[in-house]
Amino acid sequence: MVIAPDFESRPLISFQHVWKRYPNGTEALREIELQVPDGDFVFLVGPSGAGKSSMIRLLIREEKPTKGKIFVLGMELGRMKRRQLPHYRRKIGLVFQDFKLLPRMTVYENVAFALRVLGEHNRVIKESVDDSLETVGLAEKQLKYPRELSGGEQQRVAIARALVHRPRLIVADEPTGNLDPATAWEIMQLFLRINAAGATVLMATHNREIVDLLRRRVVAIEGGQVARDNQAGRYHEDLAASALRA
Ligand SMILES: Nc1ncnc2c1ncn2[C@@H]1O[C@H](COP(=O)(O)OP(=O)(O)OP(=O)(O)O)[C@@H](O)[C@H]1O
Ligand SMILES: [Mg+2]
Repeated sequence: MVIAPDFESRPLISFQHVWKRYPNGTEALREIELQVPDGDFVFLVGPSGAGKSSMIRLLIREEKPTKGKIFVLGMELGRMKRRQLPHYRRKIGLVFQDFKLLPRMTVYENVAFALRVLGEHNRVIKESVDDSLETVGLAEKQLKYPRELSGGEQQRVAIARALVHRPRLIVADEPTGNLDPATAWEIMQLFLRINAAGATVLMATHNREIVDLLRRRVVAIEGGQVARDNQAGRYHEDLAASALRA
């Protein structure tokens, strides 16, 4: 029997011996190794300054590694041409702590914006935007402006915008950082649903309660290195496990 190479089993994200030194000399990442399979849900945790956002900036090719290689969705980011970047970034749904909505546009137009830039037909845009707003439960708020919405609702709009290109990968940098605990929990449920529907999720977070409750994969970054990688992890190292090793 011939076994065909299983291209689909390649990790969706692969950091290979990645180092990042900023121009001012700060060594933000040191020898990062990380494989994220398709469909995974990964929390990136670690103290402030550990290097979580740096990893995310490398992932979306906002920064380049000083050493090492990064593969995402089958592409090596180091080989990507500048003109390929917009196309690449559309394959990733990005969500940030501060929502980054356009204040003068309605909810509908914020979500539609990226599709308008692409010159999509209105019918196609409406279908995608309606679908995304439906997913985040904001179909009735499409004519509101960001300032008329609560923080949680604004983050839902940002998530709808991230979903509009139907990305296989969602990357979020502290998406619940500005939200109260109940709202943070609702937003997290939304990410879980998106993951259950097939998207891979990588999320940097300081939200200990949520990480400890969900028991998903936890990758802890400390001093620019992967300090820990647990399949059903906690925010802090499991003390019982570390005692066993001692
Ligand atoms: N553009 C930059 N130029 C120089 N140094 C930087 C730059 N961005 C980040 N750093 C430094 O790199 C290190 C890692 O920062 P990074 O923002 O990745 O941490 P983080 O884990 O996201 O922290 P936080 O939890 O506070 O968001 C820190 O020492 C930081 O000061
Ligand atoms: Mg950060």
